[in-house]
Amino acid sequence: MPITTCIFDAYGTLFDVTAAAREAAAEPGNEALADIWPKLAADWRAKQLQYTWLRAVTGEHADFWTVTQNGLDWALEASGLRDPALRERLLQLYWELAAYPEVPAMLAALKDGGFNTAILSNGSPDMLAGAVQSAGLSELLDDSLSVESVGVFKPAAQVYDLVLKRFNCTREQVLFVSSNGWDVSAASGFGFNTIWVNRAGEPMDRLDHKPHEMLHDLTAIPDYARAI
Ligand code: LAC
Repeated sequence: MPITTCIFDAYGTLFDVTAAAREAAAEPGNEALADIWPKLAADWRAKQLQYTWLRAVTGEHADFWTVTQNGLDWALEASGLRDPALRERLLQLYWELAAYPEVPAMLAALKDGGFNTAILSNGSPDMLAGAVQSAGLSELLDDSLSVESVGVFKPAAQVYDLVLKRFNCTREQVLFVSSNGWDVSAASGFGFNTIWVNRAGEPMDRLDHKPHEMLHDLTAIPDYARAI
């Protein structure tokens, strides 16, 4: 069945989650970050995701902005950085993360091809609106679907189900794209066609459901959407 609807994870897939720490490290006054920003970014991301999974299991939901701040606070303490101004700057940069360079042309090609395009993300609606607007993607996306409407984080099945309700399509008509192996695995298990964007060349997650394709960036997504 041909694809009608292309759905993207947000953080790490369309938006570069390492950009906040990298950009802060290049700013005057933040020399303390110069050597350690990669570890700070990795710790921040790892804790942020762990807290989403734990909250999904225990049923103690908090929105992604809260979890993002909690992850950053852990990461800053682990790096010995207790600087409230730096914390605020990092959070501000996270609100307006850069999109990967190929994103606008890739989304424009999908729109030209008549596909529905949307984000499906753990991000809260206002975080997603901030990122989409600052990256200039508003005209290229039909919607940003947030887990806040179901009150549980990925990879709960209710999250993936949001796509079917919003676009009135079948699972086989959806192409789901994520840089997170666990997110792709859950989406494959749900019944979507999936592509894992593996920029870092990481090993595949040892989970039950595999991606249908692996790419190193997003450039070829429109070709795959047309070919399926
Ligand atoms: C998201 C996280 C998982 O955008 O990257 O949902």
